[in-house]
Amino acid sequence: KSVSAFAPATCANVAVGFDILGFAIHNVGDIVTLKKRDDNQIIIVEISGESNIPLETSKNAASAVVKKLCDDLSISTGFSIYIQKGIAIGSGMGGSAASSVAALVALNAFLENPLSKNELAEYALFGEEIACGHKHADNIVPSLFGGMTLIQSSNPINVVTLPSLEIYNIVIHPHLRVNTKDARDALQNDLSLKLHVKQCANLASFISAIYKNDLELLKKSSEDYVVEPQRAKLIPNFYEVKQSAMDSGAISVSFSGSGPSLFAFAENEFMANKIAKNMQDKFKEYGIESDFWISNFK
Ligand code: HSE
Repeated sequence: KSVSAFAPATCANVAVGFDILGFAIHNVGDIVTLKKRDDNQIIIVEISGESNIPLETSKNAASAVVKKLCDDLSISTGFSIYIQKGIAIGSGMGGSAASSVAALVALNAFLENPLSKNELAEYALFGEEIACGHKHADNIVPSLFGGMTLIQSSNPINVVTLPSLEIYNIVIHPHLRVNTKDARDALQNDLSLKLHVKQCANLASFISAIYKNDLELLKKSSEDYVVEPQRAKLIPNFYEVKQSAMDSGAISVSFSGSGPSLFAFAENEFMANKIAKNMQDKFKEYGIESDFWISNFK
């Protein structure tokens, strides 16, 4: 018996919501297939589409979460795991989260769905810790739930699914690599009260804009005062590319997760294509090739 599941790539943080906001990029992701074995081993047999991903069961996020769930449920079935990576590693598009989520959804389906999404999310968090040393939930949750999500609490997991914005999103991946752990280590732990107030005001207005589908307010409240300024130095020409997107009419622009990918919001599909091409051209001006995806929140 074999079961496959797809889990989408994700854009975490969405500028103002470090570690708590994220959305699914529905048209790109990873596929994980589990094939029942005759012995009780859990092993990765194949990873296609990416190299440099650990194959060892305890070090690979997808196999580690499968093993943990099997151990916790006292399941002695062995599985051969096949991973088709649609997401480049170190791209800031939630690659490790998508592999863990797809593996867990496949295992849950194999077992006839005994676990809720919240329970699966707890296991996927364990996978994030293995992949990048930190249990952030803002990739796994949108990958699992779809759409745009807000994490009210990650211990225990409590998810707020936000209304679908009637706009398009662009995620552009410059061919660079940023390690999430390094991008987290680049952040200061302390925050001034003044910045905290500015960021809270934007986050609250951003969420309010989503409920009202108010694009003016969304644009006004999309500036990240806390994390983006500290990470900008990790991506060459970040501000130039951001400016080119804003000049082309983007509503919001910032890093996708810890970068190097960027996201932008656009009013409609035509604008999204224009913004994406201008961002791509700007990267190219600096000698950096890139790929982009355009999708909506439906
Ligand atoms: N919130 C996490 C970070 C997402 O920015 O470090 C990583 O994809």
